[in-house]
Amino acid sequence: MTALISLLAGLVALHTANTTMVFDAEQGKELQTVYYGARLSDAEVAMTDSYARVRTYPCYGIIGMEEAAYSAIQADGNRTVVLAIESVSQTPWEGGQLLEVLCRDTVYPMSVKICFKSFEAQDMIETWTETVNEGKKPLTLTRFDSGHLPIRVEDVWISTLYGSWANEARVNTEPLTRGWKVIKNIDGARNSQASHGEVMISLDGRPREDSGRIIGAALCWGGNYELRFQTNETDYHHFFAGILPEHDNVSLAKGQSFATPHLALTFSSDGLSGASRNFHSWGRKYRLQHGDRQRDILLNSWEGVYFDINEAGMFQMMDDIASMGGELFVMDDGWFGDKYPRNNDHTSLGDWMVDTRKLPNGVGSLVQAATERGIKFGIWIEPEMTNTVSELYEAHPDWIIKSDKRPIIQGRGGTQVVLDMSRKEVQDFAYGIVEGIMKDNPGIKYIKWDSNSIIAMDGCSNIAYWQGFAAVCDRVRASWPDLVIQDCASGGGRANWGVLPWFDEFWTSDNTDALQRIFIQWGTSYFFPAIAMACHISATPNHTVFRTTSLKYRIDVAMSGRLGMEIQPANMTAAEKDLCRKAIADYKRIRPIVQFGDIHRLVSPYDDKGYASLMYTSPERDKAVAYWWKIRNFYDEHLPRLRCSGLDPEKQYRVTELNRVDLKPLAYEGKVFSGRFLMESGLEIPLTNEVEHSQKTDWSSRVILLEAL
Ligand code: DGJ
Repeated sequence: MTALISLLAGLVALHTANTTMVFDAEQGKELQTVYYGARLSDAEVAMTDSYARVRTYPCYGIIGMEEAAYSAIQADGNRTVVLAIESVSQTPWEGGQLLEVLCRDTVYPMSVKICFKSFEAQDMIETWTETVNEGKKPLTLTRFDSGHLPIRVEDVWISTLYGSWANEARVNTEPLTRGWKVIKNIDGARNSQASHGEVMISLDGRPREDSGRIIGAALCWGGNYELRFQTNETDYHHFFAGILPEHDNVSLAKGQSFATPHLALTFSSDGLSGASRNFHSWGRKYRLQHGDRQRDILLNSWEGVYFDINEAGMFQMMDDIASMGGELFVMDDGWFGDKYPRNNDHTSLGDWMVDTRKLPNGVGSLVQAATERGIKFGIWIEPEMTNTVSELYEAHPDWIIKSDKRPIIQGRGGTQVVLDMSRKEVQDFAYGIVEGIMKDNPGIKYIKWDSNSIIAMDGCSNIAYWQGFAAVCDRVRASWPDLVIQDCASGGGRANWGVLPWFDEFWTSDNTDALQRIFIQWGTSYFFPAIAMACHISATPNHTVFRTTSLKYRIDVAMSGRLGMEIQPANMTAAEKDLCRKAIADYKRIRPIVQFGDIHRLVSPYDDKGYASLMYTSPERDKAVAYWWKIRNFYDEHLPRLRCSGLDPEKQYRVTELNRVDLKPLAYEGKVFSGRFLMESGLEIPLTNEVEHSQKTDWSSRVILLEAL
C-alpha cells in the first residue's frame, strides 16, 4: 500500500537492514539529501535535521553554480530547469521500499520523478529518474544522470577499475582531492574493458577490506557512461553517475518519457569486502540471470583449437571433459559460414549457418554426442556483428553503423563492423540467430554471446543501440528462460550490472594466465560474485603472456570463480588429466560455498606482500574455503600467517587441503581449530609445494576447506 508521506514533516528516511538515507522533501521545494550511512533510529533520523542539505538532483540553470545532474532545453530555447516537489510516496515491495518523489518544473510542462528503491536484506538502494514531457512542444534532455550523491569531505578515497583487453578490472586506489575525477567510457559496445562504471568510496582513508565505512556505486548500464567526482569549496564531494550525454541528447515529443538506468548504491561499515558482499547478494538475487542456480563446470574449445573446428575434434574434446568430470562442452568461434567459411577472424560474422565442411552432420550430431556422454552442449555466437566479407553484409550493407559519406572503419580481422541494433530489422535478425539455433537444436543448453568490436564511428545513438540490445535480450529471455547465456566481449568487456540481468555469467578476461588473473579477478570481485566470473584452466606457456605456471597453480586460481577449462585436453598428460579430474571433484564439493557464499578478501595482490589470499564462507558460516596464492618467489622470504575472516569464532573447523600435490599432507591436515584461532592467529602456510624434485616449479598455492564440526 502506498503511503503518502506528510510533506510538512520535511525529513523522509529510507532504510535497509543496516543503512539509512535521509532526504528533506518539503512540498514546493527541491529534493535535498541530508544523510547516507549506517542505520539510524527514528529519533536519530530527527537529529539529522541539524545537518546541511545538498540538492539531490541538481538541475542546470538557476540555483547555485555547482555541477548539474540534469539539464534540458525547452522548445523556446530556455535552458533552465527548476524542479519543485509535488508529492512523495513510499510503497513497500517484497524486498524493501520504493520512494518516489514527483517533481514538476515551476514554469514548463514537464515532470521528473526521482526514485529510490531499497533492498532491505542486501543493504542496497537503487536510484533513477523518470522524465515526462507533459507539454505539446518537444523537450530535449542534454544531461540525465541516474543520480547524484553528496559525500561529506573527510579523508575520502576512491577505488576504481581500469584496464584493457587482457588486463581488465585493475584496481586503482587514490584520495579524492580538489577538482575533478572523471571516469568515462566511449567504447560504445563494451563498457567495462578499459574502465568500469562502478566505484568504491572509502570515507575513512585508504580503504581496508574488513573495516571502515565504504559507499559502493554501480551504474546498471551497458553503454557509454560518465562517473564524475567534483570537489569544490563546499563541504562535499559531489558524485554523479549516468549515461554519457556528450553525443546523445534525448528528444522527447509530447507525452513521451525517458527513464535513466538505475544507479545501485550500498553502504557498509565492514570495509571493501563488506560492500562487495552487498553487491554480490543483491546481484545474485535481483540482477543476475538464474543467480540462485549452480553453474556447470565446462570445457570451452577456444584456446584448445581456436578456429580449427571439426566433428572428430569436438567429439574428442567432449570425451575428455566428460572423463574428467565436467558437465558442459562449449564449441566456440569457427563453426559457421557457407560462402565464406569462418577459418579466421576476417570473415563470416552474420552467416550463422553451420559449415558442413567442418561439421557434416550439423550441430545436431554434437548435441547428441554430448548427451550420449552425459554432458550438456553450448555454442558461440556474436549476434551484433558482421564482417564486410560475409553474405550478410553483401545482402544488407546498410545494416551496419556508419557515418554517411565517410569510409567505414573496420575492426577485428580488418573487416569487422557493428550492426545497428537501433533498427527493428537488425533486432529481428539478432533474435533470429538464437531462434534459428534453438529451433534446429532445442537440446542446446548454453550460449556464449560475444562482442568483439568498439563502435568506431558515429552513426547510431548509443542509447538507441542499447535499447535495441535490451529489446532483443528481452525476447530471447522470454523464449528461452532456462538457457544459460554467457556475456563475453573480448573477455570482460561487458561485466556490468546493466547487461547481466539477461546473462548468467561473463567471461572475465581473454587473459587466462593464472598470475595476472589473480589481479583481474580481484578487482572484478569488488562488484561481481564468483558465480558470474568464468575462470578457466588453460595451457602453458600461456597464450597471452607466455608465462609458464604449474597446473596446480592454474587450477587453484580458476577454482576461486566459476571453474572451467580452456585447453586442448589431447595435449595433456595422463597425470595432468588426473589432477584436473581431482580438482573438478573437489570443486564440486566447494561449489556451493564459492558460488553462493560470502567473499572475504584477505591479502591483496596489489599490496605486494608476496602472496594474495581470499576466502568464501557459507551463509551459515559452517563451511569456508580459503585460497592462498604466492605471487612471487624469492628465497629467504617470510610471509605472515593466513588469518581468516568471516568465520564463527565459537565454531570448531576441521582443515582439509584440496588439490593437494605435496608428497606429505600439511602438518595440520584434518586437525580442528576454533574460528577465533583461525581469524586471530591464523594458519601457517608452507611457502612451497613439496613435490618430487623433478616436478618442482617456482609456483605455489593452496586451497583449504574449513568445515565446522
Ligand atoms: C573473444 C572471446 O573473448 C574469446 O573467448 C573467444 O570467444 C573469441 N572472441 C572468439 O573469436
